[in-house]
Amino acid sequence: MQHSQASSAWRTVQRLSLAGFGLCAVVVLAGAATRLMDAGLGCPDWPGCYGAPLVPDADRAQAHSPGVPLEATKAWMEMLHRYLAAALIAVALLLAMHGARLRHRHPDYPWRLTLGLLAALMLQGAFGAFTVTFKLWPQVVTLHLLGGLSVMAMFLWLHLCLRRLAVGTSASVRPRRLTSLWRLTLLSLVLQLALGGWTSSNYAGIACQGFPTCNGHWVEALDWGEGFHLTQAVGPSYLYGQLHAEARSAIQVGHRLGAGALLACLLMLAWRHGRERVVRPWLVLAVGVGLAQAALGVANVLLWLPLWLALLHTAGAVCLVASLALAAWHWRWSSREAAPRSFERLTRIASPVGRPAGRPAGCRSG
Ligand code: HEM
Repeated sequence: MQHSQASSAWRTVQRLSLAGFGLCAVVVLAGAATRLMDAGLGCPDWPGCYGAPLVPDADRAQAHSPGVPLEATKAWMEMLHRYLAAALIAVALLLAMHGARLRHRHPDYPWRLTLGLLAALMLQGAFGAFTVTFKLWPQVVTLHLLGGLSVMAMFLWLHLCLRRLAVGTSASVRPRRLTSLWRLTLLSLVLQLALGGWTSSNYAGIACQGFPTCNGHWVEALDWGEGFHLTQAVGPSYLYGQLHAEARSAIQVGHRLGAGALLACLLMLAWRHGRERVVRPWLVLAVGVGLAQAALGVANVLLWLPLWLALLHTAGAVCLVASLALAAWHWRWSSREAAPRSFERLTRIASPVGRPAGRPAGCRSG
């Protein structure tokens, strides 16, 4: 009886972490749609909209904020993003509640990761509020995007940890430490995501016509100083951007150069570790997603950023984060084990939960 209760608790946390990962991806995409539909200031206040939990009618909105006329579609888009984010916080709280009980039964339960995830999500909520109060200041919008993708990666990592614990792998197995090349690749991913957020929050997506040159030039007519002036003044509002054309072009070119650096790192990683059977499929996936993401970026420039294509580009970023996290996970855990064929390993990871664990080596995070 006790064993079956433990099994169902393990299953619950695994499902919750997976649901959190999927829901977080949806929240990131809803945030991108909000930004792309210029709906980021659809509600002038936070957490309510014109002081109400649901989008009010025009009269009530007028009474609440006379200077900000209601645009119902934009307001609903913004509120949808907030409702989804609230649901995500609920998932993280449930995970913490279940984790608080399970960690006493299992010394390797990833409790610190669970708490870190909850803290990151709270911070992310605060940044959601700042995007409104700071009137879409690009610094805040960019950090909000990075935060969303980080929380998503944390949900995925937690899920992988929990699956590993449930399988009950031998305690003698230790994860590999990430090498400099792995760290460089992860760093260049974070920088490229930040550059992407900077591009969209400064409305620099179509600052350059043409590819690979920018408005017919390689390096002329780019104002790097203004484009990357990170301590620029706040306000009055960054809706549609405040920078002049040359500054926006510099941002767009910076994002292209960042893509080149990231792809180079991914290719080096694949070349260095591509022969390792366990990690090969994940690296191939990450490189494939990286190339597709670059192609989507170029298509966005050439087709003048249609909404659906811009959303696909954000979805590509989500997939790239997930695939690189999966590759890093499999690389970390692959070396000290007799390397099984990737198919066998996949089925082993997907095997039923709740086995008596002995003292399995999970994520030693607390
Ligand atoms: C391969 C690595 C790349 C990654 C990881 C990446 C990532 C991103 C991210 C995260 C955003 C912000 C999306 C948002 O705010 O929702 C973005 C925006 C953008 N990226 Fe990329 N990108 C890559 C390559 C490229 C390339 C090669 C180009 C073009 C030549 C490009 C063009 C754009 C444009 C035009 C935007 C602005 C979209 C908007 O305004 O919403 N990207 N990118």
